[in-house]
Order: sequence, then C-alpha cells, then structure tokens
Amino acid sequence: MRILIKGGTIVNADAMTHGDVLVENEQVVLIGTELDVPADKVIDASGKWVIPGGIDPHTHMELPFGGTFAKDTFETGTRAAAVGGTTTIIDFAVQPKGGTFHEGLAQWHEKADGKACIDYGFHCIVSDMRDELLPEMDQLVEEGVTTFKLFTAYPGVFLSDDARIFKALKQTAKNGGMVLMHAENGPVIDVVAAELVAEGVTDPIGHGLARYPAFEGEATNRVIRLAQAAEAPVYFVHMSAKDALAEVRQARDEGWPIYAETCPQYLFLTLDDLRNGFEGAKFVCSPPMRTPDHAVELWKGLQMNDLQLVGTDHCPFDFKGQKELGRGDFRKIPNGVPGVEERIDLLHDGGVVSGKISPMRFVEITSTAAARLFGLPKKGAIAGGMDADIVVYDPTKKHTLSAKTHHMAVDYSCYEGREVVGKPEVVLSRGTVIVEGDQWLGRAGHGKFLRREPRGFSPITRSKVEKREPALVR
Ligand code: URP
Ligand code: ZN
Ligand code: ZN
Repeated sequence: MRILIKGGTIVNADAMTHGDVLVENEQVVLIGTELDVPADKVIDASGKWVIPGGIDPHTHMELPFGGTFAKDTFETGTRAAAVGGTTTIIDFAVQPKGGTFHEGLAQWHEKADGKACIDYGFHCIVSDMRDELLPEMDQLVEEGVTTFKLFTAYPGVFLSDDARIFKALKQTAKNGGMVLMHAENGPVIDVVAAELVAEGVTDPIGHGLARYPAFEGEATNRVIRLAQAAEAPVYFVHMSAKDALAEVRQARDEGWPIYAETCPQYLFLTLDDLRNGFEGAKFVCSPPMRTPDHAVELWKGLQMNDLQLVGTDHCPFDFKGQKELGRGDFRKIPNGVPGVEERIDLLHDGGVVSGKISPMRFVEITSTAAARLFGLPKKGAIAGGMDADIVVYDPTKKHTLSAKTHHMAVDYSCYEGREVVGKPEVVLSRGTVIVEGDQWLGRAGHGKFLRREPRGFSPITRSKVEKREPALVR
C-alpha cells in the first residue's frame, strides 16, 4: 500500500518545509517536492500541515481509583486519542500492592492487547517499592518498560517514602530507566483537607484549597535533591504550580537532567473551575487547577524548554455516578479529568494561534519530545524510515469542544463550548488511514505494544540554551 500526501506544509520540531510525503506500508519512504510516483491513494494536503502523530505519554485507561475505574477502555480511549490527532499513548500499569511489577504489566496487557486502536507503551506505577523488587526494575527496562512512576502523594495508596524513592532513583541511574514523579506533599495535604472538612468545607473547591502550590514546590525540591544525590535523571509529571517549575528551572540552569511535563488543564483551566458547587467535581484532579498566574509561568516554561512537553493525564470519570461518589466530602471524589482527544487542538489554538509558541515547538511539545525522552526512535518526526504516524492538520478549521460530539467515554467535557481553531483532517497510524474527515476507519487491535529504548538512545540535551526560541508573546 502506497499513500502519497501531496502539497502540505511538513512541520517537524526542527524544520518546516513545503512538500510531499510518500508512505509505503507502515513507514515514510520519501519526502520531496512535486513527487511524481504511483500511489494507491493520494491525499491532498494543500493549505494543511503534515505533522507527526501526537504522542501522549500520560494516560490512565481503566485506572482503578477511589473505588471506581477510569471510564475509557483502551479501545474507546485510543479511538478518541486518534480522532484528536494522537497516534501513540504511554499508559500507566499499576503494580498491585504486595505484588510484582510484572503482575501489574500482565493486567495492563490484558486491558490493551488486541483492543488499542493506536500504538501504546507502558510506564510502571510503583505502589509498593520493596527492596526485593529492585532487580525487577532492571528486567522491565530490558523489556521496554523503562519508566517508573513514584508518588510523594496519596498516603496509604501510592505514596513512597524518601528512602524508597531514593532507592528507585539509584536503580534507574544504573539501569538506564527513569523515575517519573508525582510530586505533592500528600501527608501534609491530608492534614489541611481534614481541617477544611472539619470547618464544613466539603465541596470540590476544598480539593483545590487543600493542595497548596507550596506543597508541590516542596516535594519537587525534595525529589530533585534526591535525584542529584542518586545521580539519576527525574521527570515530573503533571506540573501545575509555578513553585514547582521554579525548582525545575533552577536545577536545569545548573545542568541537571531534570525534566517536566504540564497538562492542558493547568494551561487552560483555573482554580475557579472548582468553585461552582458540586459541578466543580468535574475538574477535580491532582495536582489541582491553580490561579491564572501559574499558567502564565507554565507557558513561559514551555517557551524556554524548562517544561519539555504537554501530556494529558487523561483519567476520565463520569460526573454522574463516579464523581458523585464525593458528594458531601471532596476527599472521596475520584481524581482525574478527561482530555486525550482535546490536547492537540487546545495547544494549537491556545499556543500557536495565540502567538505563544511556533508551529515547530507545537510539534515538539505534542510529539517529538516525548519520543526522545521515552525511547521511541521510530516516532515523533516525519522523516524517511520513521513510522508513518501522520496527521494532516487543518490549522484554520474552527470547531467547538463538547461532550455531545467527543469520542471519549465520559459524560462531560472540561472545555464544554470552547471554540478552537485547528483540527485533524486525516490521521494515519503506521501507514493506515484511521481517521478521514468525520469518518472513523480504524479498528480495535490495530495498535501494537511498543518496547521502548532505555535512556541514552538519543542523548537528551541538558542545555536548554539551544532549545530556547524567542518568546513569541506580543
Ligand atoms: O488526578 C489525577 N491526576 N489522577 C490520575 C492519577 C495521577 O496521579 O496521575
Ligand atoms: Zn499523578
Ligand atoms: Zn496521571
């Protein structure tokens, strides 16, 4: 099967050129201008961008949380991702408490294999960092699961103490893996949350009020120090607070291999979204939305490469029946928001159209940086020999985000009614057209498990100087 994508603007993280892309079977085989080659299908991309399929390195399909499960299955969640221009996800396989990492992975393979519509990899959530499991981390790295999420939050569920975090960091320093951190001071948050409930604050806003930005800053600082002592890199997931970003910025300025992502909800939503009585439950996630001054800093972080990318932390719970578990006590609201389908368009609209980032940086933070950081050498760029995960993107198309039209299996959208500019028109996953206009052409089971490379396959720049682009903010 040969597909010729003609006359588009090919946007990679490092260059933007006008031309044609020839796809043969699963790969890009030729890029040129006015290519005159036979093809089974020709896609007219004139006036459109041709961009690498998005990589969302932070999703939670079917995550058990607070006595319920995130609503999207691998089938529904990856279909929604694809419609939104994302062709690879990395989901989090949870180690059962008292069990091994491989037990968690086996459960996640059961959920995903034969069901995912796009390619997927796994990180491992470490819920129980026992010493005897340290060698198992080495095995996982060899098996292509190279990243381990630990938590300074959620006491009694996922929290690891400093000694366990330090041991995990030291292990990854040796085995080429990387620790991902959920950095918030969970035990202290629980004290404040209990005080709020005792004072009668039981609505969702209590969730946001209890989780001070300083508690994220403190935990981020602590883990950076532990990583420096362990001589290990570390990646902070879902960064929301300027306090935490300041710690990352300082460490990176000193040359340490410290990385961080933020998420659309921290760029486009605020603490006020938690305020509307129990409606605010729709926006409960951890860390919480912040006041707008934090988002201003996060955008600067993206411009200056102190934040390397934007993942979604997609973790959808229905408002009816699931978020409602926390009526009367915000501590019982399942934590998480949907977003895997909306990430690319939100960042195009709020980033590129608003003049905050260039088209190339848009591609970098939605795709290329994740491929490099998480060991996916065939993904994240449009170039000969790469997987043909391609989005023909219409940068002028206006549409409205809404639960009435989205594909995520959840009964609300955090961005209900928001008009955005930019929409995927055609989506290819490894050379197969899976989305064309409003038509879904993909299938469950098309997606393959990705064994990821350990850190080092593509040296990650420590210096941010060469990555800085002039701030485009007017
Ligand atoms: O609220 C969130 N973020 N839910 C998903 C689990 C996590 O901590 O990433
Ligand atoms: Zn987390
Ligand atoms: Zn998460």
